[in-house]
Amino acid sequence: MPHGYRIVRSNEGIDFDELAALLKSADLADFDAVTRKKAFEGSSIVAYVFQKDLLVGCGRALSDGAYEAALYDVAVLPAYQGRGLGRLIVETILAELEGQNVIFFASVGKEAFYEKLGCLRMSTGMAHWRNPQRMRERGYSA
Ligand SMILES: CC(C)(COP(=O)(O)OP(=O)(O)OC[C@H]1O[C@@H](n2cnc3c(N)ncnc32)[C@H](O)[C@@H]1OP(=O)(O)O)[C@@H](O)C(=O)NCCC(=O)NCCS
Repeated sequence: MPHGYRIVRSNEGIDFDELAALLKSADLADFDAVTRKKAFEGSSIVAYVFQKDLLVGCGRALSDGAYEAALYDVAVLPAYQGRGLGRLIVETILAELEGQNVIFFASVGKEAFYEKLGCLRMSTGMAHWRNPQRMRERGYSA
């Protein structure tokens, strides 16, 4: 754990306006606080990183509790990136999902970050996107 930070594994006490702002600052879609709250509260695993009372990072995963899981919304405030916090979030979640397949789509340009954490590219990855046109434009699908 990088010095001066703490990790929180529940949604209790989370300020979802602050969370929505964090995810917006990391350019991970633009959902409002109510929608972010629904997503994080509906997830099997959440991880939040704080420096004192400031929310500086987050991540969440869905799991069937047996062998399949998916990772979403991994983000670190821009000013706090490059300090090992992204690694902390992903490793914390993956440790809890040990023994399960964990799939996700990396943001364009962030593939090498996940490769450093032992993740492999999927050669048959398929998605039924909410907005296929937008995802094509952003480089997630050909
Ligand atoms: C991707 C993100 C979570 C990484 O968080 P971070 O705290 O900056 O990453 P860390 O400091 O933990 O980096 C861990 C390792 O990955 C490397 N790394 C980080 N970002 C990288 C990138 N874009 N490309 C290659 N390597 C990267 C670091 O150099 C570090 O390497 P090291 O362990 O050998 O020193 C952060 O950049 C972010 O929030 N980006 C915007 C949101 C986003 O794209 N999230 C991913 C959604 S799939």
